[in-house]
Amino acid sequence: MTVTIVGAQLGDEGKGGVVDLFGDAADVVVRYQGGDNAGHTVVAGGEEYKLSLVPSGVVRGKTGVLGNGCVVNPETLFEEVDALRERGLDPDVRLAKRAHVILPFHRELDGAEEAAKADSDQEIGTTGRGIGPTYEDKVGRRGVRVGDLLNEDALRERLEYLVDAKRAVYEDIYGFDAEDADGAFDFDAVFEQCLAYADRIREEDLAVNAGDYLADRIADGDEVMLEGAQGTSLDIDHGNFPYVTSSNPTAGYAATGSGLGPTTVGQGEVVGIVKGYLSRVGSGPMPTELDGDLAEYIRDEGGEYGTVTGRPRRVGWLDIPMLRHAARVSGFTGIAINHLDVLAGIDEVKVGHAYERDGETIETLPATTENWDECEPVLKTFDGWAEFDPETVAEEGYEALPSEAQAYVEYVEGELDTPAYVLGVGPGREESIVRQNPFE
Ligand code: GDP
Ligand code: IMO
Ligand code: MG
Repeated sequence: MTVTIVGAQLGDEGKGGVVDLFGDAADVVVRYQGGDNAGHTVVAGGEEYKLSLVPSGVVRGKTGVLGNGCVVNPETLFEEVDALRERGLDPDVRLAKRAHVILPFHRELDGAEEAAKADSDQEIGTTGRGIGPTYEDKVGRRGVRVGDLLNEDALRERLEYLVDAKRAVYEDIYGFDAEDADGAFDFDAVFEQCLAYADRIREEDLAVNAGDYLADRIADGDEVMLEGAQGTSLDIDHGNFPYVTSSNPTAGYAATGSGLGPTTVGQGEVVGIVKGYLSRVGSGPMPTELDGDLAEYIRDEGGEYGTVTGRPRRVGWLDIPMLRHAARVSGFTGIAINHLDVLAGIDEVKVGHAYERDGETIETLPATTENWDECEPVLKTFDGWAEFDPETVAEEGYEALPSEAQAYVEYVEGELDTPAYVLGVGPGREESIVRQNPFE
């Protein structure tokens, strides 16, 4: 059976923590999209792990697979693996030969395009990791894949075209001087770098035909967890374009990005991860956005500063139209609602129950960002709940959660017609109320 974990909002909902929580029952954890733009946190045994590429199952010693749908920067992958080894973990990571490789010029181009857009206030606020440019080269059928790194002739041929093409874009379109880019557009330097990546991939036997590998593991009776990165409203198709990432975090891509069939993924569980309020890094509309003291309070209580970039995250009330959209797109069979502890101590907790636009009330997301930006939230108010001790509540279970928080949870479950399998009351593995384990 598979369990797919999908961000229901704008990323940073606590996906890594839920992967860790239920990861005990899994044998393999697969990332199916995105790259080192992700920052997934696992807090266990008094240790905090921030993971960008290595799937979050690593903390429990599970095999991690980076599927064909990912874009992989070998540099950050190796750094992450080395850092985890220094902390006493032994990451067993496999890399899809079909996954595309983020090369030094992709990061440069990410920055160059953001700078160009900034002149007209159109920047996305990307993580600067080269994600968009790498997916562009994938779709443009000119990128380099992990499998190409292992074939020197194929690599040379692809890179000769690619480096020249990218240098031209960098210089002729964006007006930068490639000589100033630290060798990022220098064929010899990039080629050498790629050969060094290949050496380590061979030495550690990292490359696999991931779809076949996963099918074999399932045939052997192993349980697979699919770990989405980012979130539904950052999805290239279903998010608020253009303020999105360049991949599909939604559940359909768990099949495409891993090589497992949609029937395999669809026979399993799809758990949507919801942060009890809303946070956003980067630009784009946010109808329930808060400012002032309340925003500051939630930002501080929730530690809402980007895992990857350290940027302060924008915060707002829970946006229910966004969640209805997410539940439909991915077909959630269950949800997790995290950060209920962060909202504790606030007098009145609100949610955006619907939107009003042009005198009309709407209950799901408009298809265009411009229309979404015109939406005013129709707020619904809940009684706040008092501070509580997370570990005690987690130990005693749902009934120990303040009744006002229970009312909030049950409202969300009702609106999405989906049961909450788990409620997060703190960052730690032990700080979750588990009502149902999707593997059981
Ligand atoms: P991800 O990208 O979805 O894996 O989430 P991040 O790790 O980027 O951000 C979530 C942050 O909230 C991390 O610091 C987690 O440790 C923390 N977290 C997760 N669940 C909870 C919760 O229920 N309560 C609190 N206070 N923090 C949580
Ligand atoms: P996790 O997996 C939150 C946002 C960026 C930017 C937009 C595009 O930790 O939830 P990109 O670098 O992907 O081209 O940036 O997407 N973004 C995230 N926001 N959590 C993430 O990942 C994100 N990954 C990308 O801030 O707005
Ligand atoms: Mg994150």
